[in-house]
Amino acid sequence: MKKILSLILVLALSVCVFAACGEKAENAETNKLVMATNAEFPPYEFYDGETVVGIDAEIAAAIAEKLGMELEIVDTAFDSIIPAIVAGKYDIGMAGMTVTDERLEEVNFSDSYATGVQVVIVKEDSEITTVDDLTGDKNYTIGVQTGTTGDLYSTWDIEDAGLGTVSRFNKGADAVEALKIGKVDCVIIDNEPAKAFVADAEGLKILDTAYAEEQYAIAISKDNTELLEKINTALKELTADGTIQTIVDKYISAK
Ligand code: ARG
Repeated sequence: MKKILSLILVLALSVCVFAACGEKAENAETNKLVMATNAEFPPYEFYDGETVVGIDAEIAAAIAEKLGMELEIVDTAFDSIIPAIVAGKYDIGMAGMTVTDERLEEVNFSDSYATGVQVVIVKEDSEITTVDDLTGDKNYTIGVQTGTTGDLYSTWDIEDAGLGTVSRFNKGADAVEALKIGKVDCVIIDNEPAKAFVADAEGLKILDTAYAEEQYAIAISKDNTELLEKINTALKELTADGTIQTIVDKYISAK
């Protein structure tokens, strides 16, 4: 009898332990929103000391708060974000990421929360004066960040067309460094980081003609349509109450 009682006790205890464990693990999982980014992209994501800050980081924090989740930001290579989302490693990819047809084949995108423009950075005295010069007969070398739309478009329009060479860098800032020392003739990158990089350097400028206009959105696994809906609802609310605009204004001064 005693034996049976203690057996029951042990069983009951272990059930409790398992139940508690299960609950804890589940909670930890469902309450965390893991965002993959590439923190080389001011003012959307960059480091302030050890912390990733910027427009994306703050919008993600506002979304997480609305969803009652805890935001965790993981900094990774830009071109690894979508494969990792597909593999279920992170919940969302938020990295000033442009919605493209190719990416839509792999992931879902939230509603867009910002517009981006691909621009061309050149040296102040460059003979490149318009975007059209890049598809001329001068065979320029174009610096880009690997896997970005700047990379994709210039690969298609210029390199694949035999009109120039694309030089790929892990970071946009590295492409800009290469431009400074004359290793590339221009850099194609999004307008806001372009402004930040040019402001930090001497002798560089942004061409007046834009290369392409695009929409930024949050990448989410196709398997997680529930999260997609929740994020879109949160984005709508944060747009309606002015939160998104306040965050953008904090980082981008309307000149
Ligand atoms: N908008 C471009 C793209 O989606 C560049 C984004 C780069 N973002 C970053 N965090 N490095 O390809």
